[in-house]
Amino acid sequence: MKAIIPAAGLGTRFLPSTKCTPKEMLPVLDKPVIQYVVEEALEPEEVTDAIIVSSPDKPSLLSYFQPDLSLEQLLRGRGKEAYADAVAEAGALPVDFRFQYKPKGLGHAIRSAADAVAGESFLVLLGDYVVPARDICDKMLAVSAEHGGASVIAVAPCAPEEVSRYGVIAGERAGSLPGAEGAGDEEPGAVWRVSGLVEKPEASEAPSNLYIVGRYLLSPLVMDLLEDQTPGAGGEIQLTDAMERSLDREAMYAVVIDPLSGYDTGTPSGWIATNALMAAADPRFAGGFWDAVEERGGLSR
Ligand code: G1P
Repeated sequence: MKAIIPAAGLGTRFLPSTKCTPKEMLPVLDKPVIQYVVEEALEPEEVTDAIIVSSPDKPSLLSYFQPDLSLEQLLRGRGKEAYADAVAEAGALPVDFRFQYKPKGLGHAIRSAADAVAGESFLVLLGDYVVPARDICDKMLAVSAEHGGASVIAVAPCAPEEVSRYGVIAGERAGSLPGAEGAGDEEPGAVWRVSGLVEKPEASEAPSNLYIVGRYLLSPLVMDLLEDQTPGAGGEIQLTDAMERSLDREAMYAVVIDPLSGYDTGTPSGWIATNALMAAADPRFAGGFWDAVEERGGLSR
């Protein structure tokens, strides 16, 4: 199975930083955001490769995932084995690239990788969300296996005034992940059968407040439907719209996850908070981070 990671956007919200550095290359602690997403994508044993859909204007993404033997050797020669290993690791990840030549929307980006998935089910992982536990794809795969290979998406509850930022599902409770049988309908582990999907609805028109968090396991039919998908919300070719059309012919499920399982890196303030929270939670950085904060009298709102 392949995992598609769209990374072709302009990174407008991070300008001017993203004038030369792709948004996906901004660091979280000591690694670029995209490496967390690639590592998460490769976590399930079914997944063989990550396919990054990029734009031709972002050559640094390609170079990052290439081996760099001269840098590695230079570091080893200086006794810096841990850095050399980190450089080697980034260059050895099974990552392939496809290109989206025009920014026509998420659905169009995914369709640009159609040849790579060749008629098989595939995962999609959006890059603005870092999931340290890397466990969402395995949950979706488990639900899919239980339902004959159906498409499965990860959803989480949000405040009603936030639904217009997301894709939102309609549906009904259909079960639970093993061990989560007691979960309420909007609690982690609840499984829904999806009966409808709407991209960026007005709060008054949203069928629920369960939004698509950016992790998908999709059947080949969704990829086929993207071929002739017409533009939707924002004038863009929306993945959500092709998924909605697939419901006429196939079942789809949603698994509720804890909205706090991931960190949002999609806006400058989300990215800054992600770095602070992940630094505080990582023994490699926590000491130095808190020392630097306390030296300036601590942090309070
Ligand atoms: C995309 C999807 C949307 C999903 C969201 C999650 O929207 O189209 O359905 O809820 O990601 O972040 P975007 O953020 O690209 O506008």
